[in-house]
Amino acid sequence: MWLFPCGPFAPCVILSKRQCAAGRFSTKRRPTAELRYADELAALVRWDRNNPKPENWQLSPRAVRLFILGTPKGQSLELDGEPVTIRKKYYGNDTLVERCIITLAGNRGLMLVGEPGTAKTMLSELLSAAISGCSTNTVQGTAGTTEDMIKYSWNYALLLAKGPSREALVPAPLYVGMERGIITRFEEITRTPAEVQDCLISVLSDKVMNIPELGDQGLLFANPGFNVIGTANTRDKGVNEMSSALKRRFSFETVQPVGDVALEKQIILDEVEAMARSAGFSAPLDDDAATLLATTYHELRQGISAEGMRLKKPAAVMSTAEAVSIYFQTLMSAWYYGGPEQARHLDERALAENLVGAVAKESREELATIREYFSTIVQKKAEREDGAWKRFYEAGIRLK
Ligand SMILES: Nc1ncnc2c1ncn2[C@@H]1O[C@H](COP(=O)(O)OP(=O)(O)OP(=O)(O)O)[C@@H](O)[C@H]1O
Ligand SMILES: [Mg+2]
Repeated sequence: MWLFPCGPFAPCVILSKRQCAAGRFSTKRRPTAELRYADELAALVRWDRNNPKPENWQLSPRAVRLFILGTPKGQSLELDGEPVTIRKKYYGNDTLVERCIITLAGNRGLMLVGEPGTAKTMLSELLSAAISGCSTNTVQGTAGTTEDMIKYSWNYALLLAKGPSREALVPAPLYVGMERGIITRFEEITRTPAEVQDCLISVLSDKVMNIPELGDQGLLFANPGFNVIGTANTRDKGVNEMSSALKRRFSFETVQPVGDVALEKQIILDEVEAMARSAGFSAPLDDDAATLLATTYHELRQGISAEGMRLKKPAAVMSTAEAVSIYFQTLMSAWYYGGPEQARHLDERALAENLVGAVAKESREELATIREYFSTIVQKKAEREDGAWKRFYEAGIRLK
């Protein structure tokens, strides 16, 4: 049995290892945060016994912070005489993480906004896994999301047989969060129609859901531990702007892109290693390739090179998440068509091709932007440093 159970009322991720192996929550493709970090969470539960916790939280705010930001470099926790290291998972603004945790202990929901690929989803999963032991109680917002996908719907066979009853009600994530006292995640909230978003207003203000069909029994009061984490993409701004009444019920936090090339490189290497493990292989990683990608993404996103030259920014999203997937795609080709040696020294041409594919996916006009980047900035770097930059430059200028 996994050691870290979900909320105290009706656990939602207590799984036997046999269930995991049977694929209900595959540990291979994309394990949930609570499964991926089950050992760390179990260690933090033991470490955390004497810290004050909000009611129904699995961990104290101090332990949640430690789970997300990791033990400081060179330090570890002492547990039964054994050192335990907690991995740093979010790189960026530490005080933002602290504020997010405190918001969730209070009365307002938490809204994470920012550019695509800035780890809003990752942060909301980590917070939910650490606080509630469950990151899967989620509404995925789309243009087709309806109120019953958020609150509850009905099992029509039971409804016809027995009339409206709790038995016939099919809970949706908001209902589940309130009933169990756990976090409900609402992804891409601004993609859902404004009138659907507004069903959150009364739940966030009064912490009660009205179910008129159940008559006298139709009030669901939220248990302690319940809260909502929303995410919204700034590129979607204006698609379905949130009403000001709803905005007032959330604390907004803006998550910024990673501002440092060395950190971005570290994220690329960490994430690619974890992705390779999930895909069932363990390949050596190429430090130079990670530096090329982290630098290229950073410069194109900022519109300025490390040497201080201004450059045209592409309209496409230049997120860390994109850089991770380009590295991983190149690594998979090297691993499956080549072997460990090809993985250790990734082919710069394949990197450049994947980069161009990612930048030009919105429009072919972006090709000019990337060509200009190669013929100015990358050329300068290639003149200065022989090696990976030179090969990257030669690969880039040959691309059609
Ligand atoms: N500051 C960061 N710290 C750690 N990882 C990061 C950071 N920024 C981006 N990443 C990486 O980017 C990946 C994608 O992030 P995620 O999907 O959470 O972004 P998002 O902001 O939700 O994007 P979208 O708006 O497109 O939904 C993360 O899983 C992580 O690998
Ligand atoms: Mg997201």
